[in-house]
Amino acid sequence: MNQKIMNPRIAKFVKETQFHSPLRRYFFPRYAYNFTPPQLVFLCQCIEETRHADGVIAEVGCFDGSATVFLNKYMDAKGIDKDYFAIDTFSGFVAEDVRVEVDSRGKTKSMFAGFQSNKKKWFDGTMAQNNITRVRSIQADVNEFDLTSLKKLSFCLLDVDLYRPIKKSLGELYAILAPGGMIVVDDCDASHECWDGADQAYKEFMKDKNELPYIMHNKLGVIRKRS
Ligand SMILES: C[S@@+](CC[C@H](N)C(=O)[O-])C[C@H]1O[C@@H](n2cnc3c(N)ncnc32)[C@H](O)[C@@H]1O
Repeated sequence: MNQKIMNPRIAKFVKETQFHSPLRRYFFPRYAYNFTPPQLVFLCQCIEETRHADGVIAEVGCFDGSATVFLNKYMDAKGIDKDYFAIDTFSGFVAEDVRVEVDSRGKTKSMFAGFQSNKKKWFDGTMAQNNITRVRSIQADVNEFDLTSLKKLSFCLLDVDLYRPIKKSLGELYAILAPGGMIVVDDCDASHECWDGADQAYKEFMKDKNELPYIMHNKLGVIRKRS
């Protein structure tokens, strides 16, 4: 029920009941993002900086859409209208990516149980609930999906966490990156016990391109294609 039309005393009673409920965290505001505020601001700056670059925006690894909503609300507010593709398995990590982390990178399988509780339908519903219509979700394992089919890219947030899918994606994304475009790779933090594969894949890519790594806000690896 809409609290604005509820009797204030009843509304307060309902809220107090929710406060004492084990489900309290679902009723009261909580920070919903996988990025810190400075990191989100930086991602908005990237979208701003690439607004005149040709091509679409992609978020590769979008989980439940919290960053997707934030970035699309930024685009709405700033009058930036580009197609936005959101790609995910919508069921967490794939077995082969985890196998590489375990067999070649010294990790344990239990580190990678996250992000399974998800559905494309829920993601699409979240976009609709937030009146976002430009996002097209694609359910795919990026190892199997040809990212060059997106044709031309102005900005991409690559956020699939593990070495194998990032290594594979970077070549394809860079191939379709427009002059003046940017890719940001999340989790470029060599000290992180789970996600240091992102850092390795990013640094290998930069080395192949004869470029120095450029990491913002502790973990956002930046790749630019000069205009
Ligand atoms: C850290 S979450 C993304 C968070 C999201 N960008 C945000 O900020 O809200 C990582 C996502 O990558 C997805 N993912 C991991 N490996 C993948 C793969 N091989 N193909 C597609 N998606 C993958 C997972 O399902 C998970 O939803």
